[in-house]
Amino acid sequence: MSDSRPIGVFDSGVGGLTVLREIRHQMPAERLIYVADLEHFPYGPRSQTQVRGLALDIIGMLAGMDTKLVVIACNTATAAALHVARERFDIPVVGVIAPGAQAAAAATRNGRVAVLSTEGTRASGEYVHAIREANPGIVVLSEVAADLVAIVEDGDADTPRADTALAPVLERIFDWRADTLVLGCTHYPLLRPALRRVIGARRLRVVDSADTTAARVSRIVAVNRIGADEQAIPGAKTLTTLTEVLVTAAPARFRASAASLFDEPLPAPRLVRPEPQPIRVAAGS
Ligand code: DGL
Repeated sequence: MSDSRPIGVFDSGVGGLTVLREIRHQMPAERLIYVADLEHFPYGPRSQTQVRGLALDIIGMLAGMDTKLVVIACNTATAAALHVARERFDIPVVGVIAPGAQAAAAATRNGRVAVLSTEGTRASGEYVHAIREANPGIVVLSEVAADLVAIVEDGDADTPRADTALAPVLERIFDWRADTLVLGCTHYPLLRPALRRVIGARRLRVVDSADTTAARVSRIVAVNRIGADEQAIPGAKTLTTLTEVLVTAAPARFRASAASLFDEPLPAPRLVRPEPQPIRVAAGS
């Protein structure tokens, strides 16, 4: 049996493409729809209630486009909206925090894990929960570096601007004696070259949730028998033929920042405006 419905993936900007890239790598026959909510970028400084509303609007739009599964490829939106989205929608919804937390719990040797994330993700406490759920013996340091998301979105991930922003955070992480760092924002894997420069000869395991999330999606697709069959989709399985890219603002800027992420061309983004979902979740709930 083959299910050729697409998988929906979304983030506030280019960060979620790090997850989409892994999904494509692990499931090359799947059709994908990527949404970048650039109109409301960045999500990090917004309240949980706001981000939850924005995320539910996008998931509603994707559900209306007959997606078979949605990936919240954003830690801030996972923290704010995953639980409600699972109550609200029938299709499977996958977040990025549990996979990242499990990768960190498996990687640490001294039980000291640092998480680098946006303000919203830190305020939610979801990483601390998920890591200590995996192993309650681990202690967690939650760090925030306000500029990093903008640096990546501006296309400056591999520049001295990134090194300068990372240096003080990494000093605190080393002073605290973490042996593992979780990149708790999907924009951050794009900072790996800068991280390597700043870490230098010091020892730190750096984990992110892109491949563990893709592996999770692959398992859910297999268990629920909703995978696409390579033979059932005619034509070449290129990124352009299998992927649709939607943005809520700034398509040209998105295209420029996304281009360097893939070895093959990405389709031109199309502007969309998600309809507000009828029932908003009450503030503070
Ligand atoms: N990429 C996002 C995350 O994983 C959000 C960045 C932002 O919009 O602040 O948290």
